[in-house]
Amino acid sequence: MLLYQLEKRIVAAKAAESVNEMDEKKKVMLSGIKPSGDLTLGSYLGAIKNWAERAETFDCYYFMADLHALTTRQNPADLRRRTLEQLAQYVACGLDPEKNTLFIQSHVPEHAQLGWVLQCYTMFGELSRMTQFKDKSAKNADNINGGLFAYPSLMAADILLYQPDYVPVGDDQKQHVELTRDIAHRFNGVYGDVFKIPEPYIPKVGARIMDLLDPASKMSKSDDIGNGRICLMDQPQDIMRKFKRAVTDSDTGDHCVRYDRENKPGVANLMQIYASCTGRSFDAIEAEFTGHGYGDFKAAVGEAVVETLRPIREEAARLMKDKGYLENLCRTGAEKASYIAMKTLRKVYKKVGLVPKA
Ligand code: TYM
Repeated sequence: MLLYQLEKRIVAAKAAESVNEMDEKKKVMLSGIKPSGDLTLGSYLGAIKNWAERAETFDCYYFMADLHALTTRQNPADLRRRTLEQLAQYVACGLDPEKNTLFIQSHVPEHAQLGWVLQCYTMFGELSRMTQFKDKSAKNADNINGGLFAYPSLMAADILLYQPDYVPVGDDQKQHVELTRDIAHRFNGVYGDVFKIPEPYIPKVGARIMDLLDPASKMSKSDDIGNGRICLMDQPQDIMRKFKRAVTDSDTGDHCVRYDRENKPGVANLMQIYASCTGRSFDAIEAEFTGHGYGDFKAAVGEAVVETLRPIREEAARLMKDKGYLENLCRTGAEKASYIAMKTLRKVYKKVGLVPKA
């Protein structure tokens, strides 16, 4: 009997080992979203939707970038609510917590710790050139704080702690990932191969979803005006109303629905959204709406979005009521993330000459 149990254990250990070996070979993917506003269709199509499809092939880490949210003034109660709601939405969007490591950035202190070290390896000129810094400074002229300026160094730390191969982001974050690569190269140049150099991973469709009322601006979760953006928790009637009002152009021809980003930015944006939600190509969409005006097209896009978001909204609302479940997720996610983050931070501290804690 004892022998049988021993054999069983050996078989189980071998199986676990081979699973671990498989995991070791998996490439690592990491990304985050700051809970500075309610998640939008832009965050979903540009980021989360693509993450959910990767869990089988990659070792994935996704977090709520709450420390980043502090770079603009937040109402504390709203920030807490949005951070947990974002976790519920991650799960509702298909990020299975058994297959993805989901955590809150501030629960893993190594982010702030490595962030400080990397600030010392990021140049003032580099930070001054960041488009997001320029945009945010213009929008928050009375609060251009140090955190807003040093934001990309913290983002570099978020990424490099986990030694990822890929960082899936929308178009607007590409510059920050490129700076992360520069910082990693600089650090490795001095201390040897400490950091893996990550690649940005930008989706072909949906990388830049624009505001429905102002197709020249990105659909943003932090902007106050609500009618140009769709939030994941919006009710169907509100989604339909916003699409009805979406800006197009004065074209009335049979082929007014066609993809021309430069000359028809409003229509191109709606086509991106429709393509992302239905999986149809631009050619197929043009064929579908030949002979139809913008009224029909906008209603169809609205309906596709309603149906895409319906299960997400319902599941997120259900999970939000289960605080125990969400807290448990936060705890286990942070534990898993910390294990990896601590290893990298220890290595960095040693390389730069900090005395290890006895
Ligand atoms: P954030 O919170 O502004 O946006 C989160 C993700 O959503 C994408 N995104 C969009 N994609 C397409 N169209 C849009 N309208 C749209 N709006 C947002 C963004 O490109 C991003 O991928 N600094 C980051 C958060 C962050 C991070 C990180 C990301 C902190 N640390 C480490 C990756 C790795 C940010 O502010 O994203």
